[in-house]
Amino acid sequence: MSGPLLQVRDLSVDYLVDKGAFRAVKNVSFDIGRGELFGLAGESGCGKSTIAYAITRLAKAPAWVAGGEILLDGQDLLKLTEAELQKVRWRRIGMVFQSAMNSLNPLLRIERQFFDVLHRHTGCSRAEGRAKAEAMLRLVGIDPKRVGDYPHQFSGGMRQRLVIAICLALEPDLIIMDEPTTALDVVVQREILQQICELQERLGFSVLFITHDLHLMSQFCDRIAVMLGGRIVEQGPVDQITRAPQHDYTRRLWEAIPRLPGAAATGVVEDIAAEAPVDAVRERMPS
Ligand SMILES: Nc1ncnc2c1ncn2[C@@H]1O[C@H](COP(=O)(O)OP(=O)(O)OP(=O)(O)O)[C@@H](O)[C@H]1O
Ligand SMILES: [Mg+2]
Repeated sequence: MSGPLLQVRDLSVDYLVDKGAFRAVKNVSFDIGRGELFGLAGESGCGKSTIAYAITRLAKAPAWVAGGEILLDGQDLLKLTEAELQKVRWRRIGMVFQSAMNSLNPLLRIERQFFDVLHRHTGCSRAEGRAKAEAMLRLVGIDPKRVGDYPHQFSGGMRQRLVIAICLALEPDLIIMDEPTTALDVVVQREILQQICELQERLGFSVLFITHDLHLMSQFCDRIAVMLGGRIVEQGPVDQITRAPQHDYTRRLWEAIPRLPGAAATGVVEDIAAEAPVDAVRERMPS
């Protein structure tokens, strides 16, 4: 297949509220290429999650897609029946949410949680499920022997890795990550995103990465769209958004990023966390 993997065309989404409809997403269009890391940035309430839910068709009442198309390999997801959608979710599009690490079932061993997802979509056997679970743990840097452990035996960062591993087990073409690491400390955030980039290079999936943290996003994405009040005000390659933002709001988002004391005076924005490798950041952290 050639052309972009995902094309969002003129998408509008309403929430039905007491006084009528509130348009949370207004005529939004963007493409995500094969193997591309695409970022959606913008302040709280600008409509990022609403777009993510619309793409996976998880949007339920009171959300209502008022117009537009969402094409995956040219097929409009908005026109699929519920049965057709089941084949797309997980298998072609995986999703990781901010609170995903809490979405693991505390009562079930990790192996079982892999098995439930894999069995439902592929009909695999217990042994196949276990082998896949072990392989996926290895892939995200967790000792495969731990497939028999329960979620509470892992740290928050590891639980988030486990959710990502479950999401990747079905080898989706696109993963949507809505604030996937916001609940984690900054060093763990960076490690996980670094790992997603490495996995992306090996496995070739596309990523829709959603965060209000433009700075973090700029280090991991190929292209970025900036949203304000339900609209995309600017989109382009990461270099353009970081070095030559066209829209006033994008410039203000950059200016909102804290600088080190003295940096403003010299005009140099220094951000230790941004420039230094993870180990160096860790050395500077209080133990
Ligand atoms: N169930 C709902 N009913 C009514 N309005 C809603 C509902 N969910 C979201 N909204 C509104 O839709 C708009 C977009 O919300 P959305 O959650 O998509 O924003 P967001 O960019 O993901 O924000 P955040 O960064 O805080 O996650 C907001 O104004 C929000 O108040
Ligand atoms: Mg959100």
